[in-house]
Amino acid sequence: MEKALVVNFGGQYVHLITRRVRERGVYAEVVQPEDVEAAAEAPDVKAIILSGGPSSVYQEGAPDVSDKIFHLGKPILGICYGHQLIARKLGGVVMRGKGEYGRTLMRLLERDPVFDGWNAEEVVWMSHGDYVKEPPPGFVVLAVSENGYIAAMRKGHIYGVQFHPEVSHTAKGGLLLENFLRKVARIASTWRPEEQIRRLVEDVRRKAAGGDVIVGVSGGIDSTVTALLVHMAVGERAHAIFVDHGLFREGEPQQVVSLLTSLGVKVQVVDARERFLKRLEGVSDCEEKRRIVGEIFAEVFAEAVSKIPNAKYLAQGTLYPDVVESGAVKGADRIKSHHNVGGLPPWFKLELVEPLREFYKDEVRRIAKALGLPEEAVHRHPFPGPGLAVRIIGPFTREKLEIVRKATKIVEEELERAGLLRKVWQAFATVGDDKWVGVKGDKRSVGYIVAVRIVESEDAMTADWARLPYEVLERISARITSEIPQVTMVTYAITTKPPSTIEPC
Ligand code: XMP
Repeated sequence: MEKALVVNFGGQYVHLITRRVRERGVYAEVVQPEDVEAAAEAPDVKAIILSGGPSSVYQEGAPDVSDKIFHLGKPILGICYGHQLIARKLGGVVMRGKGEYGRTLMRLLERDPVFDGWNAEEVVWMSHGDYVKEPPPGFVVLAVSENGYIAAMRKGHIYGVQFHPEVSHTAKGGLLLENFLRKVARIASTWRPEEQIRRLVEDVRRKAAGGDVIVGVSGGIDSTVTALLVHMAVGERAHAIFVDHGLFREGEPQQVVSLLTSLGVKVQVVDARERFLKRLEGVSDCEEKRRIVGEIFAEVFAEAVSKIPNAKYLAQGTLYPDVVESGAVKGADRIKSHHNVGGLPPWFKLELVEPLREFYKDEVRRIAKALGLPEEAVHRHPFPGPGLAVRIIGPFTREKLEIVRKATKIVEEELERAGLLRKVWQAFATVGDDKWVGVKGDKRSVGYIVAVRIVESEDAMTADWARLPYEVLERISARITSEIPQVTMVTYAITTKPPSTIEPC
């Protein structure tokens, strides 16, 4: 399959670029700078994109690529750091400047196929301190920013852009990528994840030929799709295990089991609620809560697996970003403490099967849809492995757990009623120890404060609080305080990530 390589210079946008390319039907793969020379020679590689990154090109140890990639005749697009690296390597000058951050006006000086469909002036999104002062010999400056910086340059098949075409704030950024892939690199549009199902099933069948396959299911889209693919591949040799840690949302365990059962997958439910809750009682530190949940999960899961005599494989819903992340750290163990299956003990000798390792979340959703999963499963919000435990601030108590569980249900119901649930990334309630005096009936009573968190996001790396209609917020507040007697105040969390995080702890 024809593909583009995206060279990872450590910027937060490398996955965004890769996803944007794939959204255009072109398969793209992240490569580390030291591997690009070898990878680029493959005949199916039709284009190379150099990503942005936090370094400065003259800094010692700044990421670099082999000069050879510029002489392969394959189209290259450098973005931000990538653009500056092209300048430095091919004889231009890069300097430290005043910097440009956020929306910036850019003016085209030359017409070029990559800017087809762009107006002479467009708003682009910048994030740079260094800038290209002198383009390398032979390069034509295609565009300049309102501050006079070179915004785009080209020589033959090599392009550099100072702005970020991959972010949505660059309104015509998608068009630029499309132009580069189609008109410059002429890559075929062949990437459709939902057409890979047969191959994935065959891969699992081949890999897991020698024994039974265990799948830990959590209700999340990744583990659900993994379970389904494994079931399609090995039938009765697939064993789905669902550990109920007591930290799920209301009705969730039943929904998970009935969905999988309806798809023909047999699920074994392990009710370990007491074991988890007892150990969590009184624990305040969130990382400690995570550690406890991970540890007990591993014990319970291992016990369940030990009862399956022919267990030989463990199927995990590992996604592409995790694969890249662990591959980028040389010598790091590739098996991540992944979601629920955090920190399985070393004696836990199962071979890993990871059918989703080349896909992004939105691609898994496309696969899920093609497999016939219902809409609510396809668009289910991400839910943390340690469940509601990370939505309780301060000491863990069963009372706070019930408050969070009930309040989260109300948040979800009201968003669903307003037709907004699927439009947001996550929506939930949290509770801590702060109290607010309330009047209920004629009596004053001290109650809990519930903070509601509803965010929009593309990948959980950054997030914005959802601008909801006041009426929706009002209904959420009214229902929480009337249906949960211990709550006297509802607040709405209005801080973006960063500086905040999505979960409260
Ligand atoms: P934060 O709170 O770091 O969350 O902004 C980013 C995303 O990760 C999820 N999250 C977790 N997922 N185990 C998980 O499996 C965890 O311990 C955990 N903590 C946060 C969070 O829901 C959000 O989608």
